Amino acid sequence: MDLKIGDEAPNFTANTTVGEINFHEWLGSEWGVLMSHPADFTPVCTTEIGRVANLKEDFAKRNAKVLVLSVGTKPGLTPLQSHTEWIKDVNETQGSSVDFPLIEDPDKEIANSYGMIHPNASDTLTVRSVFIIGPDKKVKLVISYPASTGRNFVEILRVIDSLQLTAEYQVATPVDWKHGEDCIVVPAVPTEDIPGKFPKGHTIIKDYLRTTPQPNI
Ligand code: BEZ
Repeated sequence: MDLKIGDEAPNFTANTTVGEINFHEWLGSEWGVLMSHPADFTPVCTTEIGRVANLKEDFAKRNAKVLVLSVGTKPGLTPLQSHTEWIKDVNETQGSSVDFPLIEDPDKEIANSYGMIHPNASDTLTVRSVFIIGPDKKVKLVISYPASTGRNFVEILRVIDSLQLTAEYQVATPVDWKHGEDCIVVPAVPTEDIPGKFPKGHTIIKDYLRTTPQPNI
């Protein structure tokens, strides 16, 4: 399935390393970060899983829950055994303590429902997908990386900051924006309404480019 921004995130019930979960119920009212890894016991994936675990507090501060799907499991082990054994390696090598769920998806139903398998890259393993899901269970961000390129999870946190801010205020975030920096007032706000909506001040650079200090700090 070709999942797009604004679509409802497909729900699923799955066995995971922390027990059976119903995805939407497990998310509750929090934000979700669902990401795929091509395979257990592979080097790039090992560094990624460890990094995400070490950023636990940063995801928690943003009310964002992480869960991971990997369809490439170790032969001779069940998917859950494979995930559980792999986590031990991740923790040993990355100095982490992985406590988010790794999902079992033996028939690739979840991977297919999220379009995580890109057949011209690999018809058996997923690419490195990231889906950010809002409390309304709608997809807010879709990114795909190839298996050869590890993701930058500081960027994922930055996007969550932008998504949460822009969901609440009539602002957008400019290129390379980071939490704490000035934002753009969306074009739908007439210039005469800006002082009332953004009392911290504003700058008019062009009639279509108006900035204001980040309103929620
Ligand atoms: C890795 O995680 O290192 C990896 C996984 C699948 C294909 C290529 C690299």
